[in-house]
Amino acid sequence: MNLEGVSGHFLLCNGKSCTRKGAEAVTQAVRKTINDHDFTKSIHTTKTWCNGQCKHGPIVISYPKGDWYQAMTPTLAKQLVLAHIQRQPFLNNRLYTYAEEHFKKEEKDNTPKEG
Ligand code: FES
Repeated sequence: MNLEGVSGHFLLCNGKSCTRKGAEAVTQAVRKTINDHDFTKSIHTTKTWCNGQCKHGPIVISYPKGDWYQAMTPTLAKQLVLAHIQRQPFLNNRLYTYAEEHFKKEEKDNTPKEG
């Protein structure tokens, strides 16, 4: 694949633990949102094996920003892609971010609360 012009790359964990927690539905939601908005030439996706964060899965990693997202659902996955398309930050469920030349764990719980 020619990456010239690609603005983002989502790494979609499809390891065993994430798959048990719904990773395939997350993968489909990410790819459907990219297709629905005709961003297939500028957003690349790759399924990965385990990323070593099983207890937080399903995991989605946004590259090159270096944001790692936990407990992803199809709804959150769609919101994440739309935020990327709109060049907005997406903080919900962010587990790690890359800043000052290393990864930093989120200090607060960014998981949206139900009800
Ligand atoms: S299976 Fe996804 S982090 Fe381990």
